[in-house]
Amino acid sequence: MQNSDKYAFETRAVHAGQEKVDKTGARAVPIYQNVSYVFEDAKDAVDQFLLKKPGYIYTRLGNPTTNIFEERIASLEGGVAALAFSSGMAAITALMHALCHAGEHIVTSTNIYGGTYNLFAHTLPDMGVTTTFIDQSKGAEEFEKAIKENTKCVYVESVGNPNADLIDLDAVAKIAHKHKIPLVVDNTFATPYLLRPIEHGADIVIHSATKFISGNGTALGGVVVDGGKFNWEDSGKFPWLSEPNESYHGMNFYKDVGAAALAVYLRAVILRDTGGTLSPMHAFLYLLGLETLALRVERHTANALKIVEFLNNSDKIKSVAHPSLTKHKDHELYKEYFKNGGVSIFTFEINGTKEDAMKFIDKLQIFSNLANVADAKSLVIHPASTTHGQMTDEELAAAGISPTTIRLSVGIENVNDLIEDLRQALE
Ligand SMILES: Cc1ncc(COP(=O)(O)O)c(C=O)c1O
Repeated sequence: MQNSDKYAFETRAVHAGQEKVDKTGARAVPIYQNVSYVFEDAKDAVDQFLLKKPGYIYTRLGNPTTNIFEERIASLEGGVAALAFSSGMAAITALMHALCHAGEHIVTSTNIYGGTYNLFAHTLPDMGVTTTFIDQSKGAEEFEKAIKENTKCVYVESVGNPNADLIDLDAVAKIAHKHKIPLVVDNTFATPYLLRPIEHGADIVIHSATKFISGNGTALGGVVVDGGKFNWEDSGKFPWLSEPNESYHGMNFYKDVGAAALAVYLRAVILRDTGGTLSPMHAFLYLLGLETLALRVERHTANALKIVEFLNNSDKIKSVAHPSLTKHKDHELYKEYFKNGGVSIFTFEINGTKEDAMKFIDKLQIFSNLANVADAKSLVIHPASTTHGQMTDEELAAAGISPTTIRLSVGIENVNDLIEDLRQALE
């Protein structure tokens, strides 16, 4: 779709990039389930390998089905390009490879997804990249206090997993830019339908596409969206992007490619060398998912807000961590950033013990007890013993997770059935 910006979200979600396959006459984007592509002639092969000519060489580096998914998600997030990966964690790992070298540093907050926390706290340090975790509830200034000379990015979640903590993206973006480093936002829980971080100063957006983008828990994947606004040359902190790069025939990504320098570097160097590529079949499933994303998120949101109200009025519940509640610490941010409401993944604490929490989960009949979130079906889990189970008691406390914390991912079923299920399990 040319000039895709002028179309609304729902239209872009089903049309962006479509002209690339229209000539085949296919309504749905075909699944190019193949590994490599015949060159027009020997010169065509040379030009493609030198990145002088766009095209497809080998599916580890790019695939037509995946490419349309990438175009669509870039359009929905308002970025200049996107790159798909085999999982959300593969996307985050590849991005950190692209931004940080040994001896360098990341600033993030304590309340991020447990898997990302483990990557930053335990796996990246083995490769020489360290992270400072700050308490974002103390204010955006905490990020600035932790930034050092060797810091290469600030990394946040637009809606924290599991407690639905919100963040003042505009304020954090200003701090990152003052220090000439990019702001990376994991927008998995908000989706671009509810919030577009690039409009609030984010430079790079990532998603676990496994969640709302898929919509039905069938396909693992991730995506990095390049906002295209960060000036890699002016920053001076990323010579592999703004100076001749030996691993690509001395190419200067920023000068030669321009706005999409990071996306092209990620594809041409990081994906080439580390290979966490999305399967074309999964890209096809995500294209189906994007077609109904707006409708699903609307319903997830409406159901979640009714369930929050029910839980908040129950004497069996100690507290509900949902930013739509006026007493929630992030309620003002909710009003500012989620003008159409939102947030269908959140936690609450029941009155009682850890055993009571476990018993409650076992009594639920519609909510499935499993580790995923953002499925069309409603899901429940006990974070302290599962998704965040590798954390110490101190780390759990810093992440706002107690033994009686229960996480819900509210689906799109009939909300009265969901409330009845919660009521009978609480009783
Ligand atoms: C907010 C968030 N980011 C990233 C990930 C990692 O994604 P994946 O499971 O697709 O590797 C998850 C997974 O739960 C997540 O919740």
